[in-house]
Amino acid sequence: VRLSMATAAVDPVARELGIDPVEVDELLSAGYTLPAELYTDPRVAKLEDRWIWQRSWTFAGLVQDLREPGDYLTAKVGSVPVVAVCNKEGELRAFVNVCRHRGFTPAEGSGNRKSIQCKYHGWVYDLNGCLRSVPRAAEVDDFAEFGLVPAHVDTWAGMVFVSVNPRESLAESLGELPALQKAAGASSVFELHDDWVRQEDIIHEEFRANWKIVMENALECYHCPTAHTHSFAEVFNVDPEGYTFHNFDRGMYHLANFTAEFANRYSLGERDQQPTLETADLRLFFVWPTFQGGMAVEGADATETVMAHVVPLAHDRSLYQFMSYRRKGVESTDPMGPGGMSEMLLQTFAEDVALCARVQEGLASGMVRVGKTVAESETNIRHFQRLTWDALAPAFNTR
Ligand code: FES
Repeated sequence: VRLSMATAAVDPVARELGIDPVEVDELLSAGYTLPAELYTDPRVAKLEDRWIWQRSWTFAGLVQDLREPGDYLTAKVGSVPVVAVCNKEGELRAFVNVCRHRGFTPAEGSGNRKSIQCKYHGWVYDLNGCLRSVPRAAEVDDFAEFGLVPAHVDTWAGMVFVSVNPRESLAESLGELPALQKAAGASSVFELHDDWVRQEDIIHEEFRANWKIVMENALECYHCPTAHTHSFAEVFNVDPEGYTFHNFDRGMYHLANFTAEFANRYSLGERDQQPTLETADLRLFFVWPTFQGGMAVEGADATETVMAHVVPLAHDRSLYQFMSYRRKGVESTDPMGPGGMSEMLLQTFAEDVALCARVQEGLASGMVRVGKTVAESETNIRHFQRLTWDALAPAFNTR
């Protein structure tokens, strides 16, 4: 029996949904939002799994954690568990982390192993994903054909990314980000080479909201003056001229400076009202769909940063994970003291969790099908929704 791994060319889920792709396209062009059903229908989550998550690159960890033969780390690409390993030859490999026996996830967390042994019945795969041994081998025929399903792995700036079925190379998916990072200057914290070390995740927050609601909330600070009065807005200038939003081909970024009060309180000197890519106190980059990085108080020499992403758990649940890194062997330059910014972010996130849950509730009512985005303050949302729809539309157009 030949087992087919092929993905069907036409997506039956898209056909079932009855969404008119021409209408969605027109809505976005006119500054309206994606229709509510794209946030509330479980069938859309299924569609996104195939058309967005499996075809894009997901941040999985640092190159420094995959240096030695046997080093491995695991990640979730949408609903697909993936394991990346350094094989005996020192090359990076990735596989779908699903045992070919009966579907257990053989690799767990991260670490170093000589082989990948499934803990359910003990099938053993080598670091190239080939099935090497099974208990009671005499009972199993043709087991040599049952290697782990290959996935994709690539690296950029000290970071490891994995994908199941990428529509483009990692470099293409990052678009202008590397050039923007260069323009941001030498202190950029998007380069997580060996002088950075991972800390405890500062935020590992489950949102009762669709991943797009969570991202859209993160992509605008229009809500900051009303909703983050005693957290984010106390530290950063969230006025329209103080907090600026920018789009690039595959993502978006924010620039902001500290508020004058905050800069005075910590003797940080005068701040220009208008932040620039080279000098902003906060430079926050997003790469579609959910990779986010560089959020740090940078100054001349950043000592702490975070990489983050949103993992979809269901059509109405998402995990926001903030992975925190610190530069080895240097004192923290966080003006609020080590971990001070993280504390503030935790408070901000607690507020965001509540906001996003209420948006999900509102959209699920079915009473407001489309909303309107504000032109400048929500320009990132417009770009994000356009990129999302560009990835989803082919599923609807193949009827
Ligand atoms: Fe992995 Fe049985 S599911 S050995």
